[in-house]
Amino acid sequence: MIHPLVLALETSCDETAAAVLRFPGELLGHVVASQADVHAAYGGVVPEVASRNHLVHVREVTESALQQAGVGLSDVDVCAATSGPGLASALLVGASAAKGLALALGKPFVAANHIEGHLLSPFFGRAEIPPSIGLVVSGGHTLLVDIEGAGRYRLLGRTLDDAAGEAFDKVAKLLGLGYPGGPLIEAAARQGDCTRFEFPRSMKCSGDFQFSFSGLKTSVRYLLPKTSESDRADLCASFQEAVVDVLVHKAVGAAKRCRRNLIAVSGGVGLNQRLRECLVRGAEDAGLEVLFAGPSLCTDNAAMIAYAAAWRAKRGEFSSVETDIFPSLGDTLFEVS
Ligand code: KG4
Ligand code: ZN
Repeated sequence: MIHPLVLALETSCDETAAAVLRFPGELLGHVVASQADVHAAYGGVVPEVASRNHLVHVREVTESALQQAGVGLSDVDVCAATSGPGLASALLVGASAAKGLALALGKPFVAANHIEGHLLSPFFGRAEIPPSIGLVVSGGHTLLVDIEGAGRYRLLGRTLDDAAGEAFDKVAKLLGLGYPGGPLIEAAARQGDCTRFEFPRSMKCSGDFQFSFSGLKTSVRYLLPKTSESDRADLCASFQEAVVDVLVHKAVGAAKRCRRNLIAVSGGVGLNQRLRECLVRGAEDAGLEVLFAGPSLCTDNAAMIAYAAAWRAKRGEFSSVETDIFPSLGDTLFEVS
């Protein structure tokens, strides 16, 4: 398969998404139905509500992606779906739908890995994956990965507790700002002084590439009763700075340690302008380059899943329709370091 036409579904969290991709970069159909509004009432994603909503939307989202693409099901070469990591009951919806299509059409199925989707998203459209350091910063994951090429990844470090995006979401909830918290904190921080409050930079100098963000969230919780509404912007800016500081320090350190000259950033927190600014500056100082996933590919989407699945299809790595979902990250994606 040189340029496979891939139909991919993504239902690992609170986005129901479908994409039709002609590898490597012809994104013919791209539809994302976000449930953020539904979950905002709860201040976070409720798995049962997410899976029910996926069931309601998965068919129409798939049909509109195919319609946008101007292709029929019989034109599809490969059916793919995120099979993990993610919320079990949510993953089941997209994975079952894609397996059903693959069976009915007699086409191969790829059980795509959500993390690989994020990891490769900065390279979307390219027919080659350059050696680089992948920084995945999403609502569910914070990872540093040494990327040797497509399908060859070494896990350098990950968060030991909250993910970076989760920290933004939890702090926004503490402040009563709403969900998802990242963009709301970023907006409030724009008016604030990021040097006003000195929040902890957990594990910044640990000498490895692990992260920890839950202590930072706890510091915000303890400080909160001692502040007033007028301190809100400074608080958001100082919190954001603490997250960004650690991410930049570790990503640049990983690139130096692994002798890579490119950092590839993906995931929802990759939309954060302060992170972008500081990472570009930190990388420049170290003689490195930074590549960010395109804005529409940062938060969960099926285009990145189609791209990651296409790489697997090109290597002939198909999955049986009996392949189960895998809700946790595990280590199957990574070579032992
Ligand atoms: O990649 P994504 O859809 O999540 C997972 O796959 O888990 O990213 C969503 C996360 C949320 O935690 C959200 O608060 C965060 O990305 N986010 C941001 C920004 N936009 C989204 N965090 C910081 N600054 C932003 N501008
Ligand atoms: Zn994600």
